[in-house]
Amino acid sequence: MQKETSFELKHKDIAGRIGRLTIGERTIETPALMPVYSPTKPIIDTAELTERFKCRALMTNSYIILKNPELKEKVIEQGIHKFLGFDGIIATDSGSYQLMEYGNVTVTNKEIVEFQETIGSDIGSFLDIPTMPDAYKPRAEEQLELTLERAKEATNAGFLVNAGIQGATYVDLREKAARAIGKDFKLCAVGGIVRLMETYRFADLVEVISAVKQNIPADRIVHAFGLGHPMVFSLAVAMGCDLFDSAAYALYAEGGRYLTVNGTKRLEELEYLPCSCPVCSKHGTGLKELPAEEKTKELARHNLYVSMQEIDTIKQAIRENTLWELVNVRCRSHPELYKALGKLLEQEWLAEHDPITKKSAFYIQGTESGKRTEVVNVKNRLARVESSSAVEMPPFGQVPWELSDIYPYNSLRDGIEYAGCKVTDLCKIKAIMDYQFGKGAGTLIPDNARIKKSKATRRIRGIYEGNELIAAVRASDHFIIPHIKLAERLHQKFPYPKLRIMIDDDAVEFVKEGKSVFAKFVSEVDPDLRAGDEVLIVDKDDNLLRTGTLILSPREAIDFDRGVAATVR
Ligand code: GUN
Ligand code: ZN
Repeated sequence: MQKETSFELKHKDIAGRIGRLTIGERTIETPALMPVYSPTKPIIDTAELTERFKCRALMTNSYIILKNPELKEKVIEQGIHKFLGFDGIIATDSGSYQLMEYGNVTVTNKEIVEFQETIGSDIGSFLDIPTMPDAYKPRAEEQLELTLERAKEATNAGFLVNAGIQGATYVDLREKAARAIGKDFKLCAVGGIVRLMETYRFADLVEVISAVKQNIPADRIVHAFGLGHPMVFSLAVAMGCDLFDSAAYALYAEGGRYLTVNGTKRLEELEYLPCSCPVCSKHGTGLKELPAEEKTKELARHNLYVSMQEIDTIKQAIRENTLWELVNVRCRSHPELYKALGKLLEQEWLAEHDPITKKSAFYIQGTESGKRTEVVNVKNRLARVESSSAVEMPPFGQVPWELSDIYPYNSLRDGIEYAGCKVTDLCKIKAIMDYQFGKGAGTLIPDNARIKKSKATRRIRGIYEGNELIAAVRASDHFIIPHIKLAERLHQKFPYPKLRIMIDDDAVEFVKEGKSVFAKFVSEVDPDLRAGDEVLIVDKDDNLLRTGTLILSPREAIDFDRGVAATVR
């Protein structure tokens, strides 16, 4: 019996997301890093992982356990959670890593899958074949075929299957693998990428992850297998990776290597420590003088601290909608990361998932900022607005001055000399209507509408027709929030599926009462909408039920069957 699994999104930025993953009784927040725990020679024990590192998920190796008769017997008897003394989510790997390192393993796929069921893994793997990056293509194809056959044998496994997607650096093979695995499995693992990370081939990593993400449903949990270096976490999260595992914190420590978010240093060469984690605070450069075994342990702790810290930094960036700013900074640490940033900025598919309005100002950090998802997303919308008052507003190009109060232009207008004729408040509102909802939406605001401003800030707060409020203006981004009368006009003017989120009959009564639209009940969404947009909520006959705010991207709203897709006004 497979434990019940659910995954829902809470916050978004670029294609990155903060989610809640529940497996049976255990829940974690994603993105999450699972430290790899060696069953034979752990560097940091599970009590410390839990208490000091607040770790709620780890990864260990079922193949090593299976091949050690004493361990095997104990783990079968106690179950993996009791044996490890760890109450969080336990993921096990299948021996594929050993296959990658040593070329062969002495276990069958069926055996190792059953063994992981027996010991009670929350997440387990089949014996996928991690093909080396530039493998001879027919060999990569052959190994992929075998991986997909093994995947089939694991579809009914009694754990959440960490389903490896292989295909080396061949985009067509990755796409094929992603479609096959994405169809049958909820947890999709981008495999065979450790070498890419170790050899700094980050641009290839972007291509591989992009090929996978574009070919699996949006609600699949994505694990970047073996991606354990904190310098790449933000890049991977921006593309929608949810889980990481790190053996790197321990392996690098054994080699005297000190991890930072900007790359790897040799501890011996450090005259100063660029970190104030408990380890670095305690020892300073005295860390170098510790006895060998103690030094390795302490270095592993530092490595894990910076890795866990980076995950929190990324999550905070998602909450603030500053993930691009973070990725931009991280990708300036190494020329190969900078190349990867270039590759990332070519990925137009990211824009569909990026919110249309953000909590933080748009910061120009360099010429690359002109290729960001926000710029891609507003292109169509700018084309909806006719204006004789446009100003050049890099990196967005010509922007009607009427839009200068709204996100993202509001943070870029300072310092721009606007020399055109006066733009009235009514003109602004009509232009914002066109921009947000489509060409001609501005005509739905009557010319005698009354515009009410805040006494304190002089900013527009509401639009009235007679005494009736037909729309509010949101203080944070100056977007228009149509009330039902204006929504009815939008509904009439723009044909289905424009501006709409369509829900199943089961949800109609709830939504009428003002309850949120759950993703489970969404059957169709206008693909031109973005998270953060104001939407018309309709039933299957296109009757307008309510207005709301879209929380997910259109594809996420359709693919997910958990969590809120839109809040209702
Ligand atoms: N560990 C690192 N890479 C891989 C991979 O591709 N598959 C599995 N199963 N484990 C890994
Ligand atoms: Zn440190």
